[in-house]
Amino acid sequence: MLLEASSVEKWYLRGKGFSNRFFAVNSTDLILESGKVTVLTGRSGSGKTTLMNMMAGLLTPDGGKVLLDGKDLYAMDDNTLSRLRNRHFGMIPQGAEILPDLTVMENILLPIGIYRDRYGRSASEAEECARELLEQMEIGDLSDVPAKELSGGERRRVCAARALAGAPEFVFADEPTSDLDDDNTKIILSVLRQATASGCAVMIVTHDPEALGYADIHYRMDGGSLSVLPEDNKPKEEKIHAI
Ligand SMILES: Nc1ncnc2c1ncn2[C@@H]1O[C@H](COP(=O)(O)OP(=O)(O)OP(=O)(O)O)[C@@H](O)[C@H]1O
Ligand SMILES: [Mg+2]
Repeated sequence: MLLEASSVEKWYLRGKGFSNRFFAVNSTDLILESGKVTVLTGRSGSGKTTLMNMMAGLLTPDGGKVLLDGKDLYAMDDNTLSRLRNRHFGMIPQGAEILPDLTVMENILLPIGIYRDRYGRSASEAEECARELLEQMEIGDLSDVPAKELSGGERRRVCAARALAGAPEFVFADEPTSDLDDDNTKIILSVLRQATASGCAVMIVTHDPEALGYADIHYRMDGGSLSVLPEDNKPKEEKIHAI
């Protein structure tokens, strides 16, 4: 599958009047490549989350299109877009939102239970995959714990497991390593990297320089504009950490 942003832009009003339009994202083209990790860095407020949310089908652009295999995400009705997102996209949101009264495992399986993943796996198969991910991320013992009892870093790892358990073709990770110590940062980046082995395209927004060691493609966002940094785009295979 190919996910492609074509001239997407997003603006907000700052102050009074239409002339005070402020572009969070200027007209931008971006292709997410299957089997690749794309890392997006840039200063706070430069438009990274805005661009990622538009790519992920969560935020309607004010101009341009986001095309999945040529189909315009934002021309779809809400129900179709929700299903598509649930089947093909996994998201680690910047706020690491999870449902506080559900257990870790219930949080992970909830989206899969609603729509079922694209392989039509049974609940027990999805649960097995989720357990493996939790083990890899060293929180295997937390699967029956209510989410409200978790630390920030544990919540973020649960979000990563939730994003990956449905075997999506695209994963969007917004600051996936904030709240994490060095070891867990490596683990989560490795888990995201591993997902590319089955053809998943991973987009990571981060302030963490460690993530560049896992990137195939590095873009920088500056005042709503995207630039590619060719000097950072050398093969990084040797930097993958074994987990
Ligand atoms: N709903 C909104 N209404 C008005 N302005 C917004 C809205 N969402 C984002 N912005 C503005 O758009 C700009 C880009 O925001 P965005 O969240 O994309 O930045 P970011 O690069 O992800 O920053 P950070 O690294 O702090 O997460 C910021 O100046 C922000 O204040
Ligand atoms: Mg952000």
